Amino acid sequence: MAEAVADMSSTPARNVLDLIGHTPLVAARGFDTGPCELYLKLESQNPGGSIKDRVGLSMIEAAERAGRLEPGATLIEATAGNTGLALALVAARKGYRLQLVIPDKMSQEKIFHLKALGAEVLMTRSDVPKGHPDYYEDRAARLARETPNAFYVSQFTNEANPRAHEETTAPEIWEQMEHRLDAIVCGVGTGGTLTGLSRYFARVAPHVELVLADPQGSALAGRVRTGKVEPTGRGWLVEGIGGDHVPPVCDLSRVRRAFTVSDAESFRSCRELLLQEGILGGTSSGTLLAAALRYCREQSAPRRVVSLVCDSGNKYLSKVYNDYWMLDQGFSTRERFGDLRDLIARRHAEGADVTVAAGETVLAAYGRMKLYDISQLPVMQDGRIVGIVDEEDVLLEVFEHPERFHEPVSRVMASHLVTVPPDAPLPQLLELFRRGLVAIVVHQGEFLGLITRIDVLNWLRRRM
Ligand SMILES: Cc1ncc(COP(=O)(O)O)c(C=O)c1O
Repeated sequence: MAEAVADMSSTPARNVLDLIGHTPLVAARGFDTGPCELYLKLESQNPGGSIKDRVGLSMIEAAERAGRLEPGATLIEATAGNTGLALALVAARKGYRLQLVIPDKMSQEKIFHLKALGAEVLMTRSDVPKGHPDYYEDRAARLARETPNAFYVSQFTNEANPRAHEETTAPEIWEQMEHRLDAIVCGVGTGGTLTGLSRYFARVAPHVELVLADPQGSALAGRVRTGKVEPTGRGWLVEGIGGDHVPPVCDLSRVRRAFTVSDAESFRSCRELLLQEGILGGTSSGTLLAAALRYCREQSAPRRVVSLVCDSGNKYLSKVYNDYWMLDQGFSTRERFGDLRDLIARRHAEGADVTVAAGETVLAAYGRMKLYDISQLPVMQDGRIVGIVDEEDVLLEVFEHPERFHEPVSRVMASHLVTVPPDAPLPQLLELFRRGLVAIVVHQGEFLGLITRIDVLNWLRRRM
C-alpha cells in the first residue's frame, strides 16, 4: 500500500490513483486554540474528495494480493457515501464492476456522483435496524453470497481498512508534524482511521493522545467514558461518523477522551471553518473541529494537535452551506417578530425570495421555478406584488400554444390576490391552503413574502 501512494512531484502522475494520500496539513490559526497549536489534515484533497480513497485503494489491492479478485470480478459494498465513491474510483480504473447498497435517505447528489463514476446503485430501506433483511449491510452480504465471482468489501470488518491509515495517514501526519505531536482528534465511522492511527502511534510515539469526536446521539463517546455501549435511539445529521455499536474493525482501547458534539455545533463549526480558514469541509469536519477546539482550550500547557477534514463540503452545499436549510433545521437564527413573518422562509425585504417581473416572459418564470425547485412565484412591478404565477397557470397557458412561453408573465398570472397581514391567526393560512392558495403576507401595502405549506410544516417541526 505504502508504495502504491506516489510522492507529490513535479512530474505527471501515472493516473489518478497515484494521487491518493500525501494530503496537505495546514495550521488553523483563525480560532481560539488556548495554549495549543491546531493543524488540519486535508483529506478532502484526495481525488475522490475524501479520506476513504485511501481505504478504497488498500482494500481492493489487498484483495488482489490475496487472489480474491479475478479479472472482471464484482465488488459489493454497503455504503452511504465516501467509501462508495472511493471504491468506484478505484474499481473503474482497475476494470471491476461495483455494486453498492445504499440506504434511501442519502442525498441525490451522492447517488448521481456514484452512478456517473460507473457504480451500480441498489437502494434499500434506511428505517430498519441491523439484522433486518433490508438493512443495507445485511442486503449487501446476501447479494455478495448470491452473485458469482463477487467480493464483499466489508469496510467494517476489513483489516485493510485500518492498515491503510497505519501505513499512510499516520506516518504522513508524523512526518508533517516533524515528530512533534501530542494529540489527534478523530471521528469513528468504521473506526478504520482511529484504529490505524492508534496502532502506528502505539509503536512510534505512544505519548500521542487519541481523542474521539462523536456526534450527539452516537453511543461511541459513552463507550469511551464508561466502557458501556448504550444506544441512544436518537439519530444525527452529521454524515460519516458515529454509531450505535463499536464496529469490528474499531479499536478504542487507547482513546481516553471523547467529546460529544451536537449537530447544531457541528454545522456552525463547519461554516466557521470556511469563514476563518477558507476550508470547505464536510459536516463531520465541523464535529472534529468543535471537539478539537474544546480539547485545545482545556489544556493548561502548550500542545500540538492534529485533526482531520475528512471530506469536501462540495457534497453538502445544499445543506450546511445553504442558509435557508440551516434556518429550516433550526441551526441558525434570525430576527423574530412573534407573528406570521417568522414563517416566511425567504423574506422579500432581505432580497431572499425568488420573484419574476411582470414584463418577463412565461419562459423566464418557468425557468426560475425549475432552477429553484419551487412551484409558484410572486410577480412584481415597481416594488409591489401584482400577481402570483404557478405551474398550473403556465401549463394551462402553453399546453395548446407553446409559443406563449414568449408572452409576458402578466398574461398568465393570477392577479386577484388574497393577502394576509402579519398578525393574522395561523388557522387562516389553513383556509387558504385548502383553497389551493399560498399565503401572501402584506403589511401596509408592503409585500413581506410568501408562506407555503412546507414553510408551516418546517416551522411546526422547529417548535417540537
Ligand atoms: C466523512 C467521514 N468519513 C469517514 C470518517 C472516518 O471513518 P472511519 O472511522 O471509517 O475511518 C470520518 C472521520 O472523521 C469522516 O469525517
